[in-house]
Amino acid sequence: MERTFVMIKPDGVQRGLVGEILSRFEKKGFKIVAAKFGVLPEAIVDKHYEEHLAKPFYPGMKAYITSGPVFRFVLEGDNVIATVRKMNGATNPTEAAPGTVRGDFALSIGKNVIHASDAPESAAREIGIHFTATELVAYVKIDETQLYE
Ligand code: TYD
Ligand code: MG
Repeated sequence: MERTFVMIKPDGVQRGLVGEILSRFEKKGFKIVAAKFGVLPEAIVDKHYEEHLAKPFYPGMKAYITSGPVFRFVLEGDNVIATVRKMNGATNPTEAAPGTVRGDFALSIGKNVIHASDAPESAAREIGIHFTATELVAYVKIDETQLYE
């Protein structure tokens, strides 16, 4: 069973999209195993976006991502990493397909509503940055027998 790290960015929170977005993942069948709400500390942002630190868009993105609270959570399920990336859509909302989070709710790359880990290595790394081991809750959910064969 895979786990992935997902974050609804400040624009998504401000626009009241947390429930709508979380609901998509719940209805798909993914299990919430951790969640946290608040403004990201700068050190966490730098660690999380390590690969982008030197990019020209980084200062602006850092200002935006710390401009208000974000909703962070961890989802668990079969193939959850790739599936959530698909459900979020292309990084640039102008290229994101209708039916995806970015395709339905965003207009610009600098305000693209959501983040999700892009591979097993980044998922493990990001979960470790944002959550402690005891914040990840292992439990059985009653729909599992109906979701998996
Ligand atoms: P990236 O990891 O390439 O995309 P994704 O979020 O789909 O994994 O980039 C991280 C974030 O950086 C992206 O969601 C939005 C922001 N960004 C910009 O603001 N401008 C850009 O040109 C790029 C590539 C990303
Ligand atoms: Mg990325």
